[in-house]
Amino acid sequence: MPETKNAPGLVARNNAITILNQVLSSRHGLEEVMAASKPYNEMEQRDRAFVRLLVASTFRRLGQIDALLRSYLKRPLPQKARAVRDILRIGVAQIILLETPAHAVVDTSVTLCEQTRNPGQKGLVNAVLRRIAKEGAEKFAELDAALLNTPKWLWESWQSAYGDQTCRQIAEAHLHEPPLVLTVKSDAMTLAKTMEAELLPTGSLKLQSGGMVGSLPGYDEGTWWVQDSAAALPAKILLAALEGKENHRILDLCAAPGGKTAQLAASGATVTAVDRSKKRLAVLRENLKRLNLTATVVTADAATYSPPNTIDGVLIDAPCTATGTMRRHPDIGRTKRPDDVLRLAELQKKMLEQTMENLMPGGVLVYSVCSLQPEEGPDVVQAIMAKHGDIKRLPIDPTEFGLPKSTLSDKGDLRTLPCHMADYGGMDGFFIACLHRPG
Ligand SMILES: C[S@@+](CC[C@H](N)C(=O)[O-])C[C@H]1O[C@@H](n2cnc3c(N)ncnc32)[C@H](O)[C@@H]1O
Repeated sequence: MPETKNAPGLVARNNAITILNQVLSSRHGLEEVMAASKPYNEMEQRDRAFVRLLVASTFRRLGQIDALLRSYLKRPLPQKARAVRDILRIGVAQIILLETPAHAVVDTSVTLCEQTRNPGQKGLVNAVLRRIAKEGAEKFAELDAALLNTPKWLWESWQSAYGDQTCRQIAEAHLHEPPLVLTVKSDAMTLAKTMEAELLPTGSLKLQSGGMVGSLPGYDEGTWWVQDSAAALPAKILLAALEGKENHRILDLCAAPGGKTAQLAASGATVTAVDRSKKRLAVLRENLKRLNLTATVVTADAATYSPPNTIDGVLIDAPCTATGTMRRHPDIGRTKRPDDVLRLAELQKKMLEQTMENLMPGGVLVYSVCSLQPEEGPDVVQAIMAKHGDIKRLPIDPTEFGLPKSTLSDKGDLRTLPCHMADYGGMDGFFIACLHRPG
């Protein structure tokens, strides 16, 4: 293939290495970096999908890719050749994970060396990728994927929180792309038949193949929304705890983009959705409009917000490191650090503390985070309960929500893990506590 700027797929691959580098150097999430990238958004839909798949696949197996590359490089690449390292990384991802024809990968990778002003490394990239195309897949498969693709601090934290075996099962669950899962406004059974989807024990729908969400049946009619089956649990638990009461007034704190707001509003409750981000609340409004649901939307800081009216129930789906969603966001392992856990745990405690002040006798509060880190889940609840002696846990029965009993912690909170419900495509890792102030 001639080394022209317009060779097929070259622009997409160039965008892929730029995005990979930006995520790693800025520690901003992949979705955020892609949304802000003009060259990425100027590409056609098909090329954007390819870049997304390529970069996400590279992140999912980055530790393993780097280990394989190390075994082919006689000495480390020079510091200034950082782009070359990323060219090799996405080269390996294409050859081994996406099974792209080797000649296309080698040719475009060599051209990318020119384009990134690394012409001196063309020979090396050519030789390494050719050898990997020949024999790399076997070597790659022999590596300890679960261990290599998990940052050390996360591995150690999960080992200590869940034990060796479960830690490995969590890491193994991260190696595979999860299915597309939907929450249905009403009558999931009928929609499952129409969409040829699987109705999960939790009540969510699992689709056999993903594709463009906006072109799936029922999207325009607002019949369903994308939401992992674990992400649907906090609102279900709150609604179950409020059962028997009429016309609930519910405060949904940290609500955007509104997956849980939609569940609460669909139940008939009067919902106030609060979030600090105007931009994310604009998305929440759009989502509710499509779903034909309503909520009062407030831009405010949940750590200081007091509702003007009394409320029956509060849901705090607090901002967190989101380490429970690494199946869907494999970049998280590379963008989060241990100090993020501590910083967010402080914010979570502040939010919970503020909400305690506003919780009326008889009021129910559900606290949830999509983090696997104990500091953001059980430790936050423990600290708040130690301070507010009148706050009690309401019992949660996991089987009522289609979950195995093992998802209930010793303390009575719900703890889902990415390796749970493996026969149904797994689920995100959530911690959920259901608290109340007896009235
Ligand atoms: C885990 S997401 C919420 C997801 C949402 N509940 C759903 O189900 O779609 C956390 C949200 O917290 C918001 N947030 C972060 N800090 C906040 C604060 N101090 N006050 C209010 N919202 C905050 C973020 O903007 C983000 O939308």
